[in-house]
Amino acid sequence: MSIIKTTAELEAWLGSMNRRDKTLGFVPTMGYLHEGHLSLIREAKAQNDLVAVSVFVNPTQFAPEEDYESYPRDIDRDYKLACEAGADIVFYPEVDEIYIPSSSTAVEVTGDITKKLCGASRPAHFKGVTTVVNVLFNIVRPDRAYFGQKDAQQALIIKKMVRDLHIPVEVVVCPIVREADGLALSSRNVYLTPHERSQAICLSGSLQKAEDYLSSEADDCRSAARLIKIIGEHIQCQSLASIDYINILDGETLEDIEHIESGRKALAAVAVKFGKTRLIDNRILSI
Ligand code: PAF
Repeated sequence: MSIIKTTAELEAWLGSMNRRDKTLGFVPTMGYLHEGHLSLIREAKAQNDLVAVSVFVNPTQFAPEEDYESYPRDIDRDYKLACEAGADIVFYPEVDEIYIPSSSTAVEVTGDITKKLCGASRPAHFKGVTTVVNVLFNIVRPDRAYFGQKDAQQALIIKKMVRDLHIPVEVVVCPIVREADGLALSSRNVYLTPHERSQAICLSGSLQKAEDYLSSEADDCRSAARLIKIIGEHIQCQSLASIDYINILDGETLEDIEHIESGRKALAAVAVKFGKTRLIDNRILSI
């Protein structure tokens, strides 16, 4: 197993693997791997003969004021962790390898699914994600690709893109991995000060409150507005928390809903800033 840096080397590796009778699982990441990424690699290993992991901090999904430059990076550690979890190769390209210098093409999913939630506060983000995932799919040509439910909106958008463009890749979405106290794992958790870290558990706590209220006998327990209020009140108890969004939307299309309907999934999603660190979390609500 080795680190592959160029598309030519990757092509050579794919050629040497006699792919005709083997399946390839692919885990695209921006590196600084944590247990959430490793759970994707392990799942990919369990479902495929070969596993490729990419580590690429994608500049096009960051706005100019965001943390592209300071995003945590440690390829030696990532390489070791990916190997231990079952990766056969780690693809670690330079920016020019992914975006050829003359490139002027982007892939964009339109509509509510990209405009709501993170799309409202990070307007160019998902266009960057869908473009890079397309490029990576074209280079790696996997049978299956693995994404985390923590980025629920991203997973829905990628599934839609794959359907809309007839991309021959099965998208597998794996459960959120959490710390013992409920905080969803994220590479950005390393930015949190101890005080922020102790308050950040309010994200998962607030979603639990919504779930509890939904299962209560209260008259308005299915009301999206009521559940959003419950989530907001819980988060606002934390002095360092600044809410970016709280919403409850249709779990497939991200269209607005007024009530949680029986047999239909709703997505409760939150984004909260602690100092400069923006954290997201979500929960599928259903009855
Ligand atoms: O989820 C991520 O880490 C990134 O958005 C992805 C899918 C690797 C694209 O850069």
